[in-house]
Amino acid sequence: MQASSTHPDFPDLRRVGIHPDFWYPVARSSSLKRGRALAVTFAGDPIVVVRGESGSLFALADRCAHRQLPLHLGVVRGEQLQCAYHGWCYAESGRLARVPYLADGGKMPAAARGVRNYPCREAYGLIFVFPGTPELAELSQLPAIPEWGTPDYRTMYFERTLKCHYTFMHENLMDMNHQFLHRSLMGSIQPVMLNHRTGTNWTEAQYRFEGGKQHVGADLLVMGGKSGESAVDRDYELMTIRTLYPHQELTVFRAHSEIPAIRLWASYVPLDQEQRTNKSFGILMVRRPKTPLILRAAWPVIGYFARSVFEQDRMAVEAEQRAWDEQGGDRNAEISPVLLELRKVLALCGVPIEPAHGREFAGAEEAPPVLRNASRGGAAR
Ligand code: FES
Ligand SMILES: [Fe+2]
Repeated sequence: MQASSTHPDFPDLRRVGIHPDFWYPVARSSSLKRGRALAVTFAGDPIVVVRGESGSLFALADRCAHRQLPLHLGVVRGEQLQCAYHGWCYAESGRLARVPYLADGGKMPAAARGVRNYPCREAYGLIFVFPGTPELAELSQLPAIPEWGTPDYRTMYFERTLKCHYTFMHENLMDMNHQFLHRSLMGSIQPVMLNHRTGTNWTEAQYRFEGGKQHVGADLLVMGGKSGESAVDRDYELMTIRTLYPHQELTVFRAHSEIPAIRLWASYVPLDQEQRTNKSFGILMVRRPKTPLILRAAWPVIGYFARSVFEQDRMAVEAEQRAWDEQGGDRNAEISPVLLELRKVLALCGVPIEPAHGREFAGAEEAPPVLRNASRGGAAR
């Protein structure tokens, strides 16, 4: 694997693929109604998620075994998915259940096969798939989000496609030194690093935020998490940001409280095979104050604030990806010990990115002989 220009002994992080042996969110539960199929992708693999007419959920490779048509164009019949082209029907397991133009009871031709099934679950209002080795799915836990669904928290979802490698997202959230980017929203608020720790598959940084002038949305967000503590406790907050591979979470604790006032859980799922785009899912949970009406009234402003912060971050991470593309590799000069630890965790937990299919025909040097000869005038001789 090609090394990073700033760390010769270390792989270029943007060439590290996300490890497939984990549960990844691919869609909001609410985006898939009964009797419908939804196209998603994981690192270039097309997947169709299906909700049967009974409400059951399953996920299959989104290519018909017959002639490779995307199965999401098909029709859900009961708990089966029928391809739009010739009507081959697939069961939840991906087994080929029926070919409509074969005589009933007739033997299925040997070439008629099923498609890959992806383990699939629903939790926290999201649909998760397990894109790796299916046998490992049962052994792998879904991420733990204990605040989700409790009456103490109000929940907001985010779902965005970003044109950058998923590791830029981890670095961006972990990096509290970039508050300057958010100066129009965060004002003079300043994080102070308290400590950072790391393990084989996780890294964590804790910051203390002291009072300062900031956007009203940030004030409302913090106020939302206040939950009846005394006014003097508004003086500072503690923020912990943790990557527990492959997901990430940010937690805000009010002074002297061990109950999270705000929890953000985030996951960045590569879309294309080269993993230069990702779909980011976020669940923001804000602890309800004693007077829940205040949070309800503030909710639209909090949403506007969070989306505005996200758009500023998008500008930065997508620019970073463009620079990587233009320069053909990592030229970053990162100096933050937290980010260096994070990069190590992401590199060690990941896998090499597989070359894109058909890439061998992309350039003249790599073209098959007949095309190479033709481009050099060989065909004319
Ligand atoms: S391509 Fe799917 S049934 Fe023929
Ligand atoms: Fe940011």
